Amino acid sequence: MKRSDFPFLGFGVGLRRPHYAHILEHRPAMDWFEVISENFMVAGGRPLEVLAAVRDRYPIVMHGVSLSIGSADPLNKRYLKELRDLARRFEPAWISDHLCWTGVGGRNLHDLLPLPYTEETVRHVARRIRHVQDFLERPILIENVSSYVTFRDSRLTEWEFLRAIAEEADCGILLDVNNIFVSAFNHRFSADEYIDSVPVQRVVQFHLAGHSDHGTHLLDTHDHPVCDAVWNLYERALRRFGRVSTLIEWDDNIPDFGVLSETAEHARRIFDAAVRPVDGRDDIPAQAHTEPALSINHRA
Ligand SMILES: [Fe+2]
Repeated sequence: MKRSDFPFLGFGVGLRRPHYAHILEHRPAMDWFEVISENFMVAGGRPLEVLAAVRDRYPIVMHGVSLSIGSADPLNKRYLKELRDLARRFEPAWISDHLCWTGVGGRNLHDLLPLPYTEETVRHVARRIRHVQDFLERPILIENVSSYVTFRDSRLTEWEFLRAIAEEADCGILLDVNNIFVSAFNHRFSADEYIDSVPVQRVVQFHLAGHSDHGTHLLDTHDHPVCDAVWNLYERALRRFGRVSTLIEWDDNIPDFGVLSETAEHARRIFDAAVRPVDGRDDIPAQAHTEPALSINHRA
């Protein structure tokens, strides 16, 4: 997997049902859309008509929520075939899903559940990602999820776990900056250290979203504006990772399309200030980053 194999799409938003009519009627300026794969893994009807119309005008990326790459269940061949068929029809710039498990015993629990951060899990998940990539005939991106519990068996930090899997599977990373912020608060680790430890050449996309603050913990609810602290973390990420496609997620209390559009433009303004063109190349972070050597440090 080479980061340069993936196009830079700019600043996009998630394609959500309340905005279908507005997008189809007004064709608003937007760099790209991310679509939830499962919403379009259907035989026909309006969802596919909408996606075809959107795809005619905009680049899209397919983002899944049911791959369950961390599960102990066998990979779902029917799901993978439907995913591959959808990708062949709509030609997304890439396909992503979450570094988690979402079911067991063939049941979908409809939640993004965390994994124990162990070398055994690294090998298990990396092997499954390689299988998925072979089947889809393309590299995929895996996304860090928010979490609220830790496993007693975990021996790696989350960022060591993410890095080890991406390198062993040779896949890309969708780095959700809000999820890092939420999990850093909930588990009392350093979001800055996380950002500074993720391998630069694996990161193809960022997610930004809002969360809700419950005092003792943060919940990844995607129902608020992106908070200032997450914008600051995004700026830090841009300085390290450079030219990375950015996507605004908003899944509940969804505002008018204009609010999403303005949020994407805000991301663009931060990007413009943090990532400056250098000698005709515009993929150089304004502040030089250093790539730490790969080392798996076991937690005490
Ligand atoms: Fe996300």
